[in-house]
Amino acid sequence: MSMSDKPLISADEIERRVAGLAREIGADFTGDAELVLVVVLKGALIFAADLMRALDLPVSVEFIQAESYTGKGSTGDVNLLHLPKARLAGKDVLLVEDILDTGRTASELLSWLNSQEPARLLLVTLLDKPAKRIAPISPDYAGFEIPDCFVVGYGLDHDQKHRQLPDIWAL
Ligand code: XMP
Ligand code: MG
Repeated sequence: MSMSDKPLISADEIERRVAGLAREIGADFTGDAELVLVVVLKGALIFAADLMRALDLPVSVEFIQAESYTGKGSTGDVNLLHLPKARLAGKDVLLVEDILDTGRTASELLSWLNSQEPARLLLVTLLDKPAKRIAPISPDYAGFEIPDCFVVGYGLDHDQKHRQLPDIWAL
């Protein structure tokens, strides 16, 4: 697979948009309550690192990891591999995703998080790819809406490669 000759989204555009998302989130979470960022491994790693530094709020960080079966004979099942150990009951929780495609992964993660009875539960995704959405969810905050193409960089991988690229590229 080859890459486009210029990035789909440049590092500069990402930086500006992440600052904008942090302002949107900051306006919705005022007061002293700590916001728990639940970061979806591995793809949201870099987005979350930038977002948390742009947020002017007290935050703590937890991680969650899921694996979806999208191969042959796919059922779309999502397997939860790692769950936060901290108690989320009564907390303000923000699920931090890299990309929303069919929405199945985020939907499973949100339903597990809901079962922990947080005070509030919201979803931020850097990228929103609505073309193949199956699960009836939409993000509370989205960085960029993108067309139905496979993207890498800024945390997103193809076979675990290209996560370290500063820009986002279409393959
Ligand atoms: P669903 O379909 O459950 O998928 O919303 C979300 C997960 O699928 C992966 N995904 C991608 N990963 N480039 C990637 O590197 C892409 O264009 C892409 N589209 C979907 C990703 O792991 C995400 O969490
Ligand atoms: Mg991935």
